[in-house]
Amino acid sequence: MFNDDFNDIVQNIIRSKKYKGLYKKTIEHNVKRCLEKYGKKQAERRARKILHQIWSAYYDNKPNFKHIYESFIDKLGINNVTESEIKERIIKILSIQSSTCERITILDNFYKQIFAVTGKPSSIIDHACGLNPLTYFWMNLDSDVKYQAYDIESDLIWFLNSIFEFCKLDNIEAKLGDVLIDEFGYADVVFMFKLLPILEQQEKGSSINVMKSLRCKYLVVSFPIKSLSGSEKGMREFYSNWFKKTIESEKWKFEEILFNTELVFVVCF
Ligand SMILES: C[S@@+](CC[C@H](N)C(=O)[O-])C[C@H]1O[C@@H](n2cnc3c(N)ncnc32)[C@H](O)[C@@H]1O
Repeated sequence: MFNDDFNDIVQNIIRSKKYKGLYKKTIEHNVKRCLEKYGKKQAERRARKILHQIWSAYYDNKPNFKHIYESFIDKLGINNVTESEIKERIIKILSIQSSTCERITILDNFYKQIFAVTGKPSSIIDHACGLNPLTYFWMNLDSDVKYQAYDIESDLIWFLNSIFEFCKLDNIEAKLGDVLIDEFGYADVVFMFKLLPILEQQEKGSSINVMKSLRCKYLVVSFPIKSLSGSEKGMREFYSNWFKKTIESEKWKFEEILFNTELVFVVCF
C-alpha cells in the first residue's frame, strides 16, 4: 500500500509542468519522508511545498533555459568574442536567480577574498550550484582547475554545460546530484553557497552531517543577509550565530568574511 501511494505521488509530481525537470531521486526522497511523517492524505501537498521551497522559490518565473541560451550565443562568435562581452552577457543571466543576482555587485572581490584564505585550488565542487558556476569567469583560476557542479534540475544542468561547451571550457562539468542523497568525490575546495538553510528545511539537523561527510581541504559556505522580500530582519547575526553553534563541537578552524550582500565562512578541515 505504501509503495502504491509512493509511486502514485511520485508520478503525479514528475508529470506536473512545474517539477518535470527535477532530479527523480530528490522527488522520491522527499515523497518518502512526507509519507512517513504525514501519511497518505497530506504527503503530496507537503512534498510539493518542500520542493517549491528548495528550488523554485528562488526564481520569479521558471526560466526557459533554451531561450536564455539562444540569446546568450546570439551573434556571439566564440573565436572573436572578448572576455568582457561574455561577462556582460553572463551578468544578465546571473540576475534571473535571486542568489546569484545578490552576488553581482560583490563579484570582483568575492573570490579574491575567498581564495586568499584557501589558496588557489586545483579542484572545486560546487554543491546546489544554481547559476553560480557562471561566476567562474570572475574566479581567475588556472585553466586546468577541475570544477564540478551539482544541482537537482536537469534543464539547469543542460544549460550550464551548453554555456561551458560554447566557451570551450572542458574543465567544468555540471551534473545532477543531491547533496543529501548522493556520494561525492574529493575536491580541494567545496562551495555550499546559500545552501544550509535549505537543507534544514528539507531535514532539520542535516547540515552538520553533510558537512562532516565532505572530502575536501576547505569548505566555503555562505548565507543571505536579506530575505527574498529584501528586508534585513537581523539575518546576519542570526546565521552567524547559528553556523558557529552548529559546528561548535567539531572544533574546526574557520574565517568569517562579511560582504555587502552575503555572509561567508571558510572552514579549514
Ligand atoms: C538558494 S539557491 C543557491 C544557488 C547557489 N548555490 C548560489 O548561491 O548561487 C539553492 C539551490 O539549491 C538547490 N538545491 C536545493 N536542495 C538541494 C539538494 N538537496 N541537493 C542539491 N541541490 C539542492 C536548488 O535547486 C537551488 O539551485
